[in-house]
Amino acid sequence: MQAFFWFALTFMLIILFGGMPTNRLSGTFLIITIIIAAVVAFITRRLEKNLIAIGDTHMTHYSIAIDGPSGSGKSTLAKLLAGRLGFLYLDTGAIYRAVGLYVHRAGADLTDEAAVEALLPRLQKISFGHEGGTQRVFLGDVDVSDDIRLPEVSLYASQVAGHASVRAFLLDMQREFARTESVVMDGRDIGTVVLPDASLKVFLTATPERRAERRYQELKGRGVEEDYAQVLADIKARDERDMNRDVSPLRQADDAVVLDTTDLDLDASLEALARLAAERLHI
Ligand code: DC
Repeated sequence: MQAFFWFALTFMLIILFGGMPTNRLSGTFLIITIIIAAVVAFITRRLEKNLIAIGDTHMTHYSIAIDGPSGSGKSTLAKLLAGRLGFLYLDTGAIYRAVGLYVHRAGADLTDEAAVEALLPRLQKISFGHEGGTQRVFLGDVDVSDDIRLPEVSLYASQVAGHASVRAFLLDMQREFARTESVVMDGRDIGTVVLPDASLKVFLTATPERRAERRYQELKGRGVEEDYAQVLADIKARDERDMNRDVSPLRQADDAVVLDTTDLDLDASLEALARLAAERLHI
């Protein structure tokens, strides 16, 4: 569209002001005018693209926010997308899971906000590392990557995530990751609260049944035996809690792109995401 604009403008200017009036409509004159207009349109478009690229790389970091309910494929897709783009990946659900695990191990009632809040100053540093291509999560020096994926920890995470004090405590930590690096961050409130100015916001969704099926297969793959009906019931209960809590409920940001993965496999979902990123970030 912009190229056509530059072409039309150059063409009109040459026709109006170029050459002698008698020459203006001759065949040769028209052909030369069209060629000049095409060259101008091409060069201008290239210059515009280069200027956007220079601005993006030197002045800003990209941030991609991926939100959605549990089992929509957020974590897997966000990780793959980050790997493809060379961005840092941050699984914010893992942070809430680590806090839930910590509070549970400290013996506090997870539904009691005052008791949970009192423990926060003693929470060890939550950090991420890599081992053999997989992301590891540490609470202090202890690798809790496997423990935080246990089904009961999903409940603990969801419970602590409902407390305003916990969310406020974790907000800066999450923003800090995006301050100096390009990131893909997935969670529930990334596009609405954590990174409201994200370069691209995606809301990933799928039916509860499809999400339960994926979670069931994932647990099975890790040797955790769970009943499908129970996994589905847990997913629905968690949706209910995540969407109806008072603070930062799970909801789609107004400017988010919705991607429904019910009928998409992993590859098709990743391609759709990569296309969105390429369009929005000009990369
Ligand atoms: O994505 P997940 O299943 O690992 O998330 C665990 C819990 O943490 C989930 O119940 C919702 C909560 N969570 C949240 O409230 N906000 C986030 N940004 C990420 C997760």
